[in-house]
Amino acid sequence: MAYTIKVNGAARTVDAEGDTPLLWVLRDTLDMKGTKFGCGVAQCGACTVHINGQAVRSCQVPVSAVGANEVTTIEGMAQHPVGSKVQAAWVEIDVPQCGYCQAGQIMSATALLEKKPQPTDADIDAAMSGNLCRCAAYTRIRAAIKRAAGLPIADTRA
Ligand code: FES
Ligand code: FES
Repeated sequence: MAYTIKVNGAARTVDAEGDTPLLWVLRDTLDMKGTKFGCGVAQCGACTVHINGQAVRSCQVPVSAVGANEVTTIEGMAQHPVGSKVQAAWVEIDVPQCGYCQAGQIMSATALLEKKPQPTDADIDAAMSGNLCRCAAYTRIRAAIKRAAGLPIADTRA
């Protein structure tokens, strides 16, 4: 069946079964490979995108449920007022190690800063707890979020 969904501001029509996860539509149908597959069961955060500004796990969202809502992916972050700041902070702090989890991390961090421009450590913990990093770049992720928010940061050598 054909579904028209809005991705990074553009209407895209895709032919898919209604229960196809948005993750697969993005990656396989629209060839947007920035959003990553990690676990497929809402446990890792690698597939995080925004729907109407909320961080969601795209492996858990059937394409039929997207409707007229706005999907934003990592490919849209360079044009996103908060996402572009987050990406700049990520580069400055040199956050990634292998990089696999990083698109999801940036999407969750951006959704957090849109809601809470000056997050506390507890806010960061709550917002980022579902985004796993096998390389354990957590200290640099936290520092980059604070840098994007203009908050003081601690040592980032972990
Ligand atoms: S792939 Fe969606 S949460 Fe892991
Ligand atoms: S940087 Fe390797 S999994 Fe996070």
